[in-house]
Amino acid sequence: MTVTIVGTQLGDEGKGALVDRYGGAADVVVRYQGGDNAGHTVVEDGTEYALSLVPSGAVRGKTGVLGNGCVVNPRTLFDEIDTLRERGLEPDVRVARRAHVIFPYHRRLDGIEEETKADADTGTEIGTTGRGIGPTYQDKAGRRGVRVADLLAPDRLGEKLSYVVPQKRAVIEDVHGLEAGEECDVGALQSEYAAYGRRLCEEEMTVDCGNYLADRLAAGDNVVFEGAQGTLIDVDHGNYPYVTSSNPTAGGATVGTGLGPTVVGDGEVVGVVKAYLSRVGAGPMPTELDGDADAEALATEIRERGGEFGTVTGRPRRVGWLDVPILRHATRANGLTGIAVNHLDVLAGLDELAVGHAYELDGETTQTPPATTEAWARCEPVVRSFEPWPAVDWDAVASEGYETLPEAARDYLSYLESELDTEVYTVGVGPDREQTIERVDPWARL
Ligand code: IMP
Repeated sequence: MTVTIVGTQLGDEGKGALVDRYGGAADVVVRYQGGDNAGHTVVEDGTEYALSLVPSGAVRGKTGVLGNGCVVNPRTLFDEIDTLRERGLEPDVRVARRAHVIFPYHRRLDGIEEETKADADTGTEIGTTGRGIGPTYQDKAGRRGVRVADLLAPDRLGEKLSYVVPQKRAVIEDVHGLEAGEECDVGALQSEYAAYGRRLCEEEMTVDCGNYLADRLAAGDNVVFEGAQGTLIDVDHGNYPYVTSSNPTAGGATVGTGLGPTVVGDGEVVGVVKAYLSRVGAGPMPTELDGDADAEALATEIRERGGEFGTVTGRPRRVGWLDVPILRHATRANGLTGIAVNHLDVLAGLDELAVGHAYELDGETTQTPPATTEAWARCEPVVRSFEPWPAVDWDAVASEGYETLPEAARDYLSYLESELDTEVYTVGVGPDREQTIERVDPWARL
């Protein structure tokens, strides 16, 4: 049985807590795209673990798999595994032999491209995490990438690096007029990365991902597919070009693991929704609370209550009303069977409450975001007001169940269910693991 968990908005929806919750009944937690751009903190027995690549389930004694759709930085992988071991854990991590490898030249090129765009002052930089994600996926699609399996064959690794590294050097030096450094030293790269290959081999970490997962499923194991980032950052379905270079949407769980769409489609697909919208950095946000003092005061109140500050940078996130066109788009693109709504407590006791129900664009009303980011920036929200709910004893509500939520909060959730034609499975009413109302257990549906 499988449960796929995806972000419906722009990341930071609180997916980690849900992966934790559903991972409890899982045997295997699989990431199917992205790499060490997905920072998350896991708290286990009072100890905090900051991970960006190892799936959080591995901290809890599950098998964590990095699927073939991932891009793997072995330095990060082994740093994280070693840190977990120093703390007394023995994480079981498997890596797909078809996954692609991030090299130091990918990170360098990621930084150079962002700086070049910033210097041009055209506002076209993406604000990437600088981890080399985009350049590694470019090499994958360009058929010049190095896969995990190549690390296990030092001669083949050497041949591939000898072909690709001079190209990277030429881009750094001839296109950008910069000096290439140790990231372009073929010999050094070959020996460092062949050593990672030996370690992967010694620790029996590499798998043929599709076969491995099919065997685990056939043995009756439960599998969680964990989508990193969010639907609006998907390279196909997001606000291009302000996207990551992979497919966080549920379709990614099939191509990124080697299991067919029927396997994912036979399972549950749960979309994580924050009860309002937040956004890091530039880009359109039609429901943003800004422009006048009242709106900005509301944004400040929600931001402070919801802790809407970047985990790494501390940068305040932009805040807006829930954007329902985004959610309609995410529901369709992911084929959601249910949603998990987080941060409902953050909106309690506000003087006013609204959602962006639809958009006005060029005199027409539209129900989903337009295909281009330029048109999206011209959308005006069609706002629908809701009665705010009072602050209550959320711990009591979490333990007593959905029916004890304030009526106005249930109205808000019912509206979402009817607009998205899907069910609310869980409701987050506080930051702790216990502060969640579970209404539908997806494993029980299967
Ligand atoms: P990249 O994935 O580093 O190439 O970054 C591309 C875009 O995706 C940037 O806007 C990043 O801020 C965003 N992004 C990447 N990973 C995450 C994440 O885990 N959460 C939220 N945004 C992310």
